[in-house]
Amino acid sequence: MNIGIDKLSFYVPNLYVDMTDLAHARETDPDKFHIGIGQDKMAVSPVTQDIVTLGANAAAKILSDTDKKEIDMVIVGTESSTDYSKASAVSIHRLLGIQPFARSFEVKEACYGATAALQMAKDYISEHPTRKVLVIASDLSRYGLHSGGEPTQGAGAIAILVTSDPRILTLENDSVFLTEDIYDFWRPSYSDFPIVDGPLSNETYIQSFGKVWTRHKEVTGLALPDYDALCFHIPYTKMGKKALLSVLPETDETTQERLMKRYEESITYSRNVGNLYTGSLFLGLISLLEVSQELEVGSTIGLFSYGSGAVSEFFSARLVKGFKEQLLANEHQALLNNRKKLAIPEYEEVFSQTLPKHGEAAEFSDQTRFSIEKVENDIRYYREN
Ligand code: COA
Repeated sequence: MNIGIDKLSFYVPNLYVDMTDLAHARETDPDKFHIGIGQDKMAVSPVTQDIVTLGANAAAKILSDTDKKEIDMVIVGTESSTDYSKASAVSIHRLLGIQPFARSFEVKEACYGATAALQMAKDYISEHPTRKVLVIASDLSRYGLHSGGEPTQGAGAIAILVTSDPRILTLENDSVFLTEDIYDFWRPSYSDFPIVDGPLSNETYIQSFGKVWTRHKEVTGLALPDYDALCFHIPYTKMGKKALLSVLPETDETTQERLMKRYEESITYSRNVGNLYTGSLFLGLISLLEVSQELEVGSTIGLFSYGSGAVSEFFSARLVKGFKEQLLANEHQALLNNRKKLAIPEYEEVFSQTLPKHGEAAEFSDQTRFSIEKVENDIRYYREN
């Protein structure tokens, strides 16, 4: 049975910072951000958007009334949870009007969580082929003002509808995964921001990729020429490029050139958004599918997922007939083009705003389809416009 992605979309907040402006404000050479790290714009989330509203805004674009009746599970991969106990998936389930006899829960393992959710969805559909699973990757990627990770922040969500006989791509049964207990990036429960060993996280990412890639080759017999494109988790666009460059010498020049071109297409959106944590791999996939003119039915895409801490996975997908008609390229490009640029003092002010704590109340206004309306007695109330 073919199981995979039937619908796919993303949502990013309507505010961004230009990386040249950030570089000037931080007395850094802009080339470090644009070339060294590979980022041009960075999405900034207003206080009225959290992982619930970002996720609901992403999913509302793709779900039909029939989908809402046929979804059995809502799984949110995130590392920006708003609550230790209640899952964001429960609020998203209500906001989207999904039928009540469904499972809704969160999955956590840094940026890897949504891949675990996707594979769980695939396994569920293999037992329940007439049903559907909604997978959401939603995060606020925040390292803090003036921090080393500041230029690699971002925010946004991905929504993925997993079904049998999917209309975008099938997920192959070839996943190779790896767990290694490492402290390269983590966020203690008391802290608003992560603790990061940047060089170690870069190193672990590359080493993990090398391990799952080598094992995947051994298990499946597939090598670089068998792939039309490779997509990577993209904490910043230079990171995936480093991983790709680490294996390109394994193949001929034509394949190298093809995979590099597809890589550039896969980072087009991320360059203008920044890090989505759990969603970054899938923003890369959407960018590849919507920007590239070279992919066709049957094209094979390899995907590398990495979550600090660390868990990684390499798996492959194959494009199916009619995949282009299922994409929302125009809508996504309009979303990116219609955002408001923030001057650095405005960004710092927006970034520093927080929701009330300890039972205090506040009301907000935001014209986005889903947003936070008010906070009262430690409950977040959401508005649908
Ligand atoms: N022009 C062009 N390139 C420049 C430059 C300039 N003026 N100045 C620096 N660079 C290059 C560096 O050579 C380096 O490239 P390389 O990695 O290919 O060697 C790159 O820009 C980054 O420079 P570096 O000095 O390493 O930056 P940093 O100390 O500010 O750290 C991160 C960068 C990504 C490690 C940091 O932003 C971070 O910790 N981010 C969060 C963690 C993360 O995203 N980890 C990824 C794995 S999950």
